[in-house]
Amino acid sequence: MVSAMSEKVFLSGIQTTGEGQPTLGNYLGALKRYVDLQNEGDSYFFLANSHALTVRIDPAQLRHNTLSMAAWYLAAGLNPKTATLFVQSQVTEHAQLAWVLNTFSQMGELERMTEYKDKASRNKGNINAGLFTYPVLQAADILLYQPTHVPVGEDQKQHLELCRNIAIRFNNLFDQSTFTVPEPFIPTTAARVKDLQDPTSKMSKSLAGQGCVFLDDEDKVIEKKFKRAVTDNEAQVRIDEQNQPGITNLLEILATISGKSMEQAQADCADMQYGTFKQAVADAVVAKIAPIRTKHAELITNTDELETILADGAARARTVAAKTLANVYDTVGLLKA
Ligand code: TYM
Repeated sequence: MVSAMSEKVFLSGIQTTGEGQPTLGNYLGALKRYVDLQNEGDSYFFLANSHALTVRIDPAQLRHNTLSMAAWYLAAGLNPKTATLFVQSQVTEHAQLAWVLNTFSQMGELERMTEYKDKASRNKGNINAGLFTYPVLQAADILLYQPTHVPVGEDQKQHLELCRNIAIRFNNLFDQSTFTVPEPFIPTTAARVKDLQDPTSKMSKSLAGQGCVFLDDEDKVIEKKFKRAVTDNEAQVRIDEQNQPGITNLLEILATISGKSMEQAQADCADMQYGTFKQAVADAVVAKIAPIRTKHAELITNTDELETILADGAARARTVAAKTLANVYDTVGLLKA
């Protein structure tokens, strides 16, 4: 339950893009951590469906993805009575605060965002203004809830830095602490899970080849993807990011999924041949993911129940978001409805 006394406040979210299923990177860098953190403070975890509009998506697919992603959060172990689980578009304060924050964000700083540059180069036919102001909406998502910590993977560091700058700028300009300035909360392992086929690139929905593992992949598919994972000629299971990025990535996945340190995972596998090692990583991943996939399949059949959970989450989120927005409107001189 949300308590006014807790010191830590966590907030984070995942986009409902693609076909709505999280990748192993989303799971290790985000979802699994949400589940671990939900009992350590107040927590707000949401589905970033408005952000998903920045890349063309079929409306029916987007609706499906949103409910499906909610089911993944629950299947992974999020307790909606403990954490506030909600959909971004159902709390209209996100869009309202984003507008105000747009006027406190500089074109130059948005132009420097690497994610924008990447996405713009991949979507040349649709470089829309939403893609450009995407990180401002993200700042609004965060600042509405005054979180102390934002658990994210490494790729979100730059957006978090921008969010902090906007918050600090706003607070300084009006000489008050309207916003809590949040810390990016990046894990020590699996902060950037790499593609199994190209261990120098991030595992990502947008690459989505044989190197990307999805939570809804069948066991056999997961095993095949790990079996084909790119390794090296060193013939030794060892942490060496520089010379053995594939093996190091596999060790990172194994360590995180089994709750061990990298050193422990390395020690456990030091004597293994690469084939055996890959099978061991695949087994650990399957053991963790298969029950989540089964649970998801069960939850997704009951859309009424999912919608009820999300409506309750949105109502709880709104009470907090409305308070921050009212304060911001007062501060900048906007009349309230
Ligand atoms: P998204 O949807 O791309 O990813 C969701 C979360 O998963 C993490 N992640 C990874 N972590 C480790 N290794 C990987 N290969 C990997 N791939 C993805 C991301 O770092 C992220 O934590 N802009 C955000 C969504 C968002 C958000 C927010 C996040 C919107 N508003 C407010 C936090 C707070 C995004 O695109 O994440």
